[in-house]
Amino acid sequence: MGKIIAIANQKGGVGKTTTAVHLAAALKLDEKKVLLVDFDTQGDASAYLGFDGNENESISTLFKAFVSGTEVNIDDFIHTSERNGGIDYIPSDLSLAEAELYLVSVMARETVLKRLLEQVKDNYDYIIIDCQASLGVLVINALTAADGVIIPAQTQEFSKKALNAVTNTISQIQKTINPNLEFLGVLPTMVDNTAMTRDTSQEYKETFGEKVFSTGISRSVTASYSSRDKKALCFKNSSKIGLQYKAFAEEVERRV
Ligand SMILES: Nc1ncnc2c1ncn2[C@@H]1O[C@H](COP(=O)(O)OP(=O)(O)OP(=O)(O)O)[C@@H](O)[C@H]1O
Ligand SMILES: [Mg+2]
Repeated sequence: MGKIIAIANQKGGVGKTTTAVHLAAALKLDEKKVLLVDFDTQGDASAYLGFDGNENESISTLFKAFVSGTEVNIDDFIHTSERNGGIDYIPSDLSLAEAELYLVSVMARETVLKRLLEQVKDNYDYIIIDCQASLGVLVINALTAADGVIIPAQTQEFSKKALNAVTNTISQIQKTINPNLEFLGVLPTMVDNTAMTRDTSQEYKETFGEKVFSTGISRSVTASYSSRDKKALCFKNSSKIGLQYKAFAEEVERRV
């Protein structure tokens, strides 16, 4: 059965989407069957993978139909990014934001995504969920569905504070709704050659020990170019970031 991995941090712009797309790409290159679920209303991972459809083809429609008990086939919402080695993905769009409202009156609202993904879990080795920057009901859904969670974190002062909130949420979920959720680790992102990076990395190691991935991801403008080009850097042999994400993916495979 496939492993579901959520990429989460309520802090914005820390590299969640870049990590989700590159982890999916690296696993795909390792000949694993991979599904990426874009679970962010911004739809950044979808754009990265070249999605240019509308909400009728996205998780917002699938999720709403599933909640209301309408017959839907999840396979109809799975797209394939040919530019990215054939990664399968379920795209997202702004309409997913409505879920925050209608879920309020839904029974077992935290387990909707889990129940939805159970239909395809056996078809994949890994299902990666790109979460939005919040700790709201959609992220709780992702953490309830997941077997493991990875927190990308910039090595910056304010990022340390954000880590407390997300690790607290993870431990609440482990104690209540999903005891199987494994905290796979913290991935330092946008690492550069500054004292701030050195000090913060050291603090992450003191707090999280072995849980800090040994491969940090360097700060490089190539990351932004790759989202513009809609192609993960893992497919470019000469890319430093691509190689770092491949090494990170190997660590992830050893941890799950
Ligand atoms: N290693 C890196 N070096 C430099 N820039 C990066 C790196 N990784 C990501 N970026 C850039 O930083 C910005 C934020 O990255 P990304 O979208 O992956 O973060 P996010 O956590 O998913 O953001 P959000 O919270 O909005 O969903 C993007 O413009 C991205 O291209
Ligand atoms: Mg994102």
